[in-house]
Amino acid sequence: MRLDKFISTTTTLSRAEAKKIIKKGILINNILVKSPDYKVDEISDQVIVNGERLVYQKYVYLMMNKPQNVVSATEDAIDKTVVDILEEKDRIHKVFPVGRLDKDTEGLMLLTNDGELAHKLISPKKDVEKKYYVEVNGELKKEYIEIVKAGLIIDGGYECKSANLDILESSVEKSRAFISITEGKFHQVKRMMKALGTTVTYLKRLSIGTLILDENLKLGEYRYLTEEELKNLNK
Ligand code: URA
Repeated sequence: MRLDKFISTTTTLSRAEAKKIIKKGILINNILVKSPDYKVDEISDQVIVNGERLVYQKYVYLMMNKPQNVVSATEDAIDKTVVDILEEKDRIHKVFPVGRLDKDTEGLMLLTNDGELAHKLISPKKDVEKKYYVEVNGELKKEYIEIVKAGLIIDGGYECKSANLDILESSVEKSRAFISITEGKFHQVKRMMKALGTTVTYLKRLSIGTLILDENLKLGEYRYLTEEELKNLNK
């Protein structure tokens, strides 16, 4: 990778700013380099900027507890996005959200720049289970469990894939449940709840496949995945 690109990918500096500091000279393996097109070996070269070695990470994986009023996109003309709320040092990796959560949905959001893993997690063919906690106005009856398992028909006549409904509490006015689905149609949980005669008042994603939301993360907080979490996701 060119030196100017290497510096702009591993620091908060822009490509132009990287070129400027390269003009003054950068220590690479203890030799002063002044050429922006110097080819850096990302793994073995020791590139020192401000006394520190720059570390190149090809892919990064972040787990966020998405708050409400933030959209799951990389850019938005009106709303704050999940990428906007990252610290600059993490934003430089050009991560994007894996799948979508509605603006008013909270919970687990995975951000990465690894397109292959993202595809594997959101492709409906891969049947990766996403578990949600949902609160609704209205009653969730026991018989809905079987209906949801058999394939609920939602608006537009679409028959959902088999899903798991686990009712935690139910009354005529309000109910609470876990629901696990393996697809991600637009507003899917809300539409499923509507088809069951209820209205979602609160929705939170708890897991994506083996990846479980770290409950120590407050709304809007995030952290890097552990090696174990990543290994399990890639299985
Ligand atoms: N289903 C929804 O309706 N909304 C979400 O944000 C996620 C799943």
